[in-house]
Amino acid sequence: MNKGKFITFEGVDGAGKSSHIDEVISFLELQKIDVIRTREPGGTKLGEKLRELLLHDEMDPETETLLMFAARKQHIAEIIKPALDKGVFVVSDRFTDATYAYQYGGKQVSYAKIEVLESWVHPELKADLTLLFDLPVEISIERLKKNRSPDKFEKEDESFFNRLRNVYLDLARQNPKRYKIINANQAIESVAQDVIKAIKTIL
Ligand code: TMP
Repeated sequence: MNKGKFITFEGVDGAGKSSHIDEVISFLELQKIDVIRTREPGGTKLGEKLRELLLHDEMDPETETLLMFAARKQHIAEIIKPALDKGVFVVSDRFTDATYAYQYGGKQVSYAKIEVLESWVHPELKADLTLLFDLPVEISIERLKKNRSPDKFEKEDESFFNRLRNVYLDLARQNPKRYKIINANQAIESVAQDVIKAIKTIL
């Protein structure tokens, strides 16, 4: 049996990726592809508990990084790997690239330490396709201002968002086969078209 494909969605907060995930799920189901939607941090019962802590409690940046990977280990063992092994597609709202962007770029945790955790927790697993929802930081901040109950990350300042956007763009440059940059600063229909076009490249 063929393995399922692993698709990840990434980007700064406020880039609007979540609503496009729904469209991708519907599109894949129309193609008669078995697919599950999941997210990080989270995706499992334990992971969702860790998500609550991660999004709302202040903590040391390295503690935060370790908890992200603890949640991820559980997510891979319980959800991602069994699904891919059965030939099911997995669409995840964020994965390890977010740790490079937010904890290395944003919080300035050592890149090398994150690499160690990645090679420990998932030495083999890589996304088949990563959609990076990109938009200028000023616009993402404007969108976030409309959110009345921002989480810990959404309250960060412009320089934090600029650093993490640059890390994402560097990752996209370093992994041109896996990454597709989606311009999130255009009409929602055009974003949706670009997303589906990117998905078709791995079918
Ligand atoms: P979401 O708002 O896109 O669901 O993501 C939750 C927040 O968690 C978002 O602000 C990014 C952050 N995050 C990290 O800081 N590191 C990570 O490894 C992941 C997966 C998410």
